[in-house]
Amino acid sequence: MTSEEHRDTRRMVFGGVAEAYDAGRSGYAEPMAAEVLAYADLGDRGAVEVGAGTGKATVPFAARGVPLVCVEPDARMAEVLRRNTAGHPNVRIEVGDFEQWQPGGRRHGLLFAASAWNWLDRERRWDLVHAALAPGGATALIFGPHGIHDAGLRAALADIGARHGVKSSPHRFLARDLSGGEPGSWDQRWPEAECRRDGRFTELRSVRFGRDLRYGTERYLRHLNSLSAYRVLPAESRARALDEIGRLLDAHGGGIDVHQVTDIFLARAR
Ligand SMILES: C[S@@+](CC[C@H](N)C(=O)[O-])C[C@H]1O[C@@H](n2cnc3c(N)ncnc32)[C@H](O)[C@@H]1O
Repeated sequence: MTSEEHRDTRRMVFGGVAEAYDAGRSGYAEPMAAEVLAYADLGDRGAVEVGAGTGKATVPFAARGVPLVCVEPDARMAEVLRRNTAGHPNVRIEVGDFEQWQPGGRRHGLLFAASAWNWLDRERRWDLVHAALAPGGATALIFGPHGIHDAGLRAALADIGARHGVKSSPHRFLARDLSGGEPGSWDQRWPEAECRRDGRFTELRSVRFGRDLRYGTERYLRHLNSLSAYRVLPAESRARALDEIGRLLDAHGGGIDVHQVTDIFLARAR
């Protein structure tokens, strides 16, 4: 299987657990939206969000009154997004792949994507971003990896996942791997190099916000169950892995302490 085919089998797995996704995922650090908006300097222009999911990153922008177009291909995710943004008439939801989305005459002051950049067509994604932006428009790519505080627990979780076939484990990092590093240090494919090579963007910047979070066992199981690395497992393997992890966390005080970083890559269309 080519890496593009691999991406395509994984990118639509979230809708099957849209409610668990919404209940389990913790979203992004509180200052994220204000930081992005200060950089974007929107004036009266609006923003487009790519891969909005259930709205974990959407709501903080919507609550600040930003006119938003959210592009989300999975109708089940879009339904939860609709509910989560129901109080914000400034949000418009368009169901479809970003690659097929037609900006028409619309050019935006900001394009943002939270935990969604990896799911876009690698050959075309910078062209698509560029086509969606007005001159001087900003792009913000947002990521939220976790590191685990307890080294023994991290190793035990990674081991359970590996025994049940998990690849690209969500238990790769210790909290100190993330809290000590630069934004994007956890990802060899941090978008900066690709964006620099593209040449149509300027004012490249990477920003990090960190926070400690505690998940109770049930919430952590929902979180894991919403990750593509777990969604692609055969149902029986996934159930066994989650069951073992549940028992491990219960025996470990009923939850897990993690350090989450919200890493943001910012760039501006020339
Ligand atoms: C990991 S989820 C992130 C959702 C949300 N942004 C968040 O931060 O929770 C990835 C989202 O990207 C969407 N997605 C996958 N392929 C896409 C594409 N080609 N264009 C736009 N969105 C896509 C998925 O349906 C999913 O909702």
